[in-house]
Amino acid sequence: MDPTPILQIERLAVEYHTGRTVVRAVDQIDLTLNRGEILGLVGESGCGKTTLGHALLRMIEKPHRIVGGRIWFDNLGEVLEMNKASLSRYRWEHIAYVFQSAQNALNPLLTVRQQARLVIQAHPGGKYRDPDQRMTELLRMVNLDPRRVLTAYPHELSGGMKQRVGVALALMLDPEVIVLDEPTTALDVVSQATILEILRDVHQRLNTTMMFITHDMAVVAELADRVAVMYAGRIVELGSVDAVFYTARHPYTQALMAAVPSLDGRPGGLRAIQGHPPDLRQLPPGCRFQDRCPLAVEACRVREPLPVPVGDGHEAACLRLDEPPLKEVNQ
Ligand SMILES: Nc1ncnc2c1ncn2[C@@H]1O[C@H](COP(=O)(O)OP(=O)(O)O)[C@@H](O)[C@H]1O
Ligand SMILES: [Mg+2]
Repeated sequence: MDPTPILQIERLAVEYHTGRTVVRAVDQIDLTLNRGEILGLVGESGCGKTTLGHALLRMIEKPHRIVGGRIWFDNLGEVLEMNKASLSRYRWEHIAYVFQSAQNALNPLLTVRQQARLVIQAHPGGKYRDPDQRMTELLRMVNLDPRRVLTAYPHELSGGMKQRVGVALALMLDPEVIVLDEPTTALDVVSQATILEILRDVHQRLNTTMMFITHDMAVVAELADRVAVMYAGRIVELGSVDAVFYTARHPYTQALMAAVPSLDGRPGGLRAIQGHPPDLRQLPPGCRFQDRCPLAVEACRVREPLPVPVGDGHEAACLRLDEPPLKEVNQ
């Protein structure tokens, strides 16, 4: 079956303005989310993943702003042109966000039931009338006991439980899309595995389209259908999980892969990527990965690489795509 786009991002650019400095954290991003898929958005810390996620819900607050591009959502149209009323329906009813620190995103003064009621109250036109009943159903779906959790305050729940409550709240109004920002990052390994299992289960039952933000390639491999690799505000590689994992073409993706422990069965293969992402306030001309790239040549310091197709639905933005993959070179 051909994929049907539900959310299309074109040439999106987001800037942070602090004092006299401007940081363009998301730059010229083109990306499509297909209905029912799980897209993993991966990259080191500071690459702009959260900024991109926030921009999809127009959660960029002044003085920071979306400075260019378009976001189309299914038959709702252009998100960046929505008025206040449409925007507040769009959020929660069509797209919901599970925050990076979902654990701290819950209001500490409210019980889980009270938070669920607030969501429904803020959306009187939504399809659910009875918040307690809806939240009970969702808590069961995320494997929590509603009798215990509904009346609990956040501090009475473990980190993993709070993360699951965050997922349940995001699902309150049955949105078509949810954005999950590093949902496994702050958790111990066992809770991480539980969350992944729950997300897989929720996805199977509801067919919710998910954008899953993480810096952890191994998590992407477990959950996602497709992967977008982000570096310094740009998407440098995009493709199916298989394509990106087995035939990574961008040297940055290859480096991320080499840093994943034991994905290919090698014990203790963990290797950090040398160096740091560039300072977004003063980017060099040419490729943003040039200073860390073992394949960089003179042209990479001059020309900016654009995404080019390298396989079926697989693209990469690198001038040196004809070089042999680094995996072998680096061993
Ligand atoms: N509120 C903010 N004000 C100024 N700069 C910000 C703000 N939030 C993020 N940034 C900058 O934008 C860049 C991308 O950040 P972010 O989107 O959080 O990346 P990621 O989620 O990939 O770690 C970073 O350089 C970060 O310092
Ligand atoms: Mg982030």
